[in-house]
Amino acid sequence: MASFATEALRKVSLVGQHRTAVVVGGTLGIGAAIARHLAKLGCSRIVIFGRNEARGEAVLEDLHRISSKADGFVAEFVKGELSDSQSMRTAADNLQKAGGIDYLVMCQKGLPTGTINENADGYDTPFAVQAISRFTLAYLLTKRGALASGASVISIAAQGQTLDDLSVDDLSLKGRLSTGSQTTMFLNQSKRDSCVLDAFHEELNIRYPQYRYFHLSPGLVSSEQFDVNKFPGIMKYAVWFGQRLIGTTPDKYALLPVYLLTAAPASSERYFDSKLKPKRIGKWAADPENREKLWKKLVSIIGENEGQVSAPVEVWAQSEGGVTAG
Ligand SMILES: NC(=O)c1ccc[n+]([C@@H]2O[C@H](COP(=O)([O-])OP(=O)(O)OC[C@H]3O[C@@H](n4cnc5c(N)ncnc54)[C@H](OP(=O)(O)O)[C@@H]3O)[C@@H](O)[C@H]2O)c1
Repeated sequence: MASFATEALRKVSLVGQHRTAVVVGGTLGIGAAIARHLAKLGCSRIVIFGRNEARGEAVLEDLHRISSKADGFVAEFVKGELSDSQSMRTAADNLQKAGGIDYLVMCQKGLPTGTINENADGYDTPFAVQAISRFTLAYLLTKRGALASGASVISIAAQGQTLDDLSVDDLSLKGRLSTGSQTTMFLNQSKRDSCVLDAFHEELNIRYPQYRYFHLSPGLVSSEQFDVNKFPGIMKYAVWFGQRLIGTTPDKYALLPVYLLTAAPASSERYFDSKLKPKRIGKWAADPENREKLWKKLVSIIGENEGQVSAPVEVWAQSEGGVTAG
């Protein structure tokens, strides 16, 4: 897969460009693989965000081992949670200290469960991690001026699906919980995530045209913790077969987002399938009225006032060692 990306990346070097990447959900899987490719290309500073310190430190060791040393490579781990609005805001506060972020990569995983586990805000927790936290980080880091000029934000998660009658007043789908099987609920949660992600990425692209906000479907990637038993009913068999037929590894898949960030010719495309073919956003997200209502809802969920002046960007001192904010 991705021979065009491998070929193009052979000619790319970030050495001397002083690029900073923040990889949220970078302790494992696709996020860690993206960080490894960026380190290999010469990205001079990589911040890994996640909950698991031991896994975070192991990724930093890998990055130091494979990085180009030419620029005085710095890798840092920032420990944090993304399961409710308070922890998301704390994460944004800590990550904005990275300052001048060229690549904000978001791979945090909140896999649907087919049921609802409410967080402190009353929203389904996996939905909060998968969708609300990505909005929170992209929006706050943009608004607070933590992105470098021409920065790219990239979100890896299922793209292009639709749940036509999704209401922003029931984003956790509580009204549907008792109306179908766990598998139906799982599928609806997955469509809901895709609608919300497509919709706010489109709004970010419209509202902040000086940056690029990408949303990519990864297809089936056998990450270290990928477990077919987390899928309900017969879905686990379909996923098991799919993984064997068309599945790939995090390192192979990660070439595509890294190609998009560092080597792809400039283009207006922002949404892609697992082979990096451009895609449209889903039907629900394509409706500007839905997007407007969702934007207002998401801004209110994270307790932000649209007119409010942004917090100034506080920047970390460059250091050779790892930094842990908690
Ligand atoms: N792999 C696939 O086939 C596939 C298919 C479709 C969509 N996707 C989507 O692609 C993204 C990446 O998938 P992946 O397979 O690479 O996932 P993964 O290997 O499970 O990694 C997920 C990352 O999210 C972090 N994370 C999970 N919960 C978190 C929380 N509450 N707060 C902060 N960080 C959290 C984990 O770090 P810690 O444990 O250290 O916190 C880890 O670094 C996910 O959104 C996934 O849903 C993947």
